[in-house]
Amino acid sequence: MSDIVLEARGISFDYPGGIPALADLDLAVGRGRRLAILGPNGAGKTTLLLHLNGTLRPKAGEVRVNGAPGGYSRAALRDWRGAVGLVLQEPDDQLFSASVRQDISFGPLNQGVGEDEARARVDAAVEALRIGHVVDRPTHMLSFGQKKRVAIAGIMAMRPEVLILDEPTAGLDPSGERHLMHALNGLAGAGTTMVFSTHNIDFAWSWADDVALFQEGRVLRQGTAEEILLDDDLLKGLGMRPPLVADIARHLPHAPGAALPRTRDELLARLAGA
Ligand SMILES: Nc1ncnc2c1ncn2[C@@H]1O[C@H](COP(=O)(O)OP(=O)(O)OP(=O)(O)O)[C@@H](O)[C@H]1O
Ligand SMILES: [Mg+2]
Repeated sequence: MSDIVLEARGISFDYPGGIPALADLDLAVGRGRRLAILGPNGAGKTTLLLHLNGTLRPKAGEVRVNGAPGGYSRAALRDWRGAVGLVLQEPDDQLFSASVRQDISFGPLNQGVGEDEARARVDAAVEALRIGHVVDRPTHMLSFGQKKRVAIAGIMAMRPEVLILDEPTAGLDPSGERHLMHALNGLAGAGTTMVFSTHNIDFAWSWADDVALFQEGRVLRQGTAEEILLDDDLLKGLGMRPPLVADIARHLPHAPGAALPRTRDELLARLAGA
């Protein structure tokens, strides 16, 4: 990876009370790539993501954005969060305005975007995440999945260079997940870099270019999706198994070196042709 947009170098962090969360962690995010972060509960995924947009400050090490160390002054943090948007795991931790529309427009208006431009961005995010029917409701009067989609729309409307999502699909219904994927594909196609944590290894396989495996506050291994998610021994050590679609496909006859299917539909097409 030559062009690194976001990087954690030697980051350590303890929560108050001396609870260790990150221990000399290194992670590099290539520009325009999709990086999945996988690892057990408590491995430090959320804590790292909170460092990547400056919400938490490491006790040692640094975060670099476009090659420069991130700053923690008010002005520097505003610029940082304009470039690197983070969608939290819990939408209740993110939403705070009276109505959905107000909440989604807060970020762009706070960045100094004009009212017309802010309205256009809100409309685009609302359309992309199919939340038009709840846009005038108070945010606390929504279901979990609706809140999650509103939280994602709010960060999307800021048009960050890097979009970070902490467990984006958790709690979404199948059509909510499809619409989210459609919206994220649109952003990825426009060049947005994506970092997301997930426990869903099949989702990671279907969507990630790169994978970082977390264990006990460190990156155990980072590489391409193929390098990490097809390494049975590595995954086994973390109680994980390879993605189902890839696991089935590699037990079918296939040309050596041929790429394995990433999705259920690709696998079904291969089976139909077999
Ligand atoms: N607010 C907090 N105060 C104290 N300790 C915390 C806090 N949040 C997390 N921790 C601890 O920090 C460590 C890393 O937690 P973190 O939330 O980053 O894990 P995670 O990989 O995101 O887990 P999960 O898969 O459950 O979301 C854990 O030991 C956890 O107990
Ligand atoms: Mg977490």
